[in-house]
Amino acid sequence: MKTYIKNIILGIALVTLSGCYYDTVLPIEVEGEISYIQQVQVIFDSKCIGCHNGAEAPNLLTGLSYEDLINGGYITLEAPANSLLYTKINGGSMDGFASSTDKSTILKWIEQGANNN
Ligand code: HEC
Repeated sequence: MKTYIKNIILGIALVTLSGCYYDTVLPIEVEGEISYIQQVQVIFDSKCIGCHNGAEAPNLLTGLSYEDLINGGYITLEAPANSLLYTKINGGSMDGFASSTDKSTILKWIEQGANNN
């Protein structure tokens, strides 16, 4: 009987814990229209330009990043999730530099047409 109760408690604990884990891997929904300058560039400024400052392609410095991304073929408007900018940070070699919110923000910006807004 005691083992039975222990197993129930363990079961509940496991379900609760895996529930929490599942929550953390769910993609974060970013609302509204994304501003390139106010939401995307700030990600580059704080997390990417330590390396992508001209030395490493793409150049992600303010004022240069937009043209570099568009002309460098990093954005695929027809299939936003296949954009190299996104695949690199989402499972690719740059994944560790971007948070879930950063990834969602960048994907949503591309889905909305990758505007220079
Ligand atoms: C510590 C240095 C460093 C940081 C920080 C960094 N990167 Fe990179 N990045 C590199 C290097 C080195 C490469 C080339 C090797 C590779 O593709 O993994 C690269 C490659 C890339 C590429 C592909 C370039 C190509 O032409 O194939 C993209 C896109 C990219 N990074 C985006 C980002 C973004 C967005 C961030 C910030 C969230 C970021 N990187 C942060 C060093 C960095």
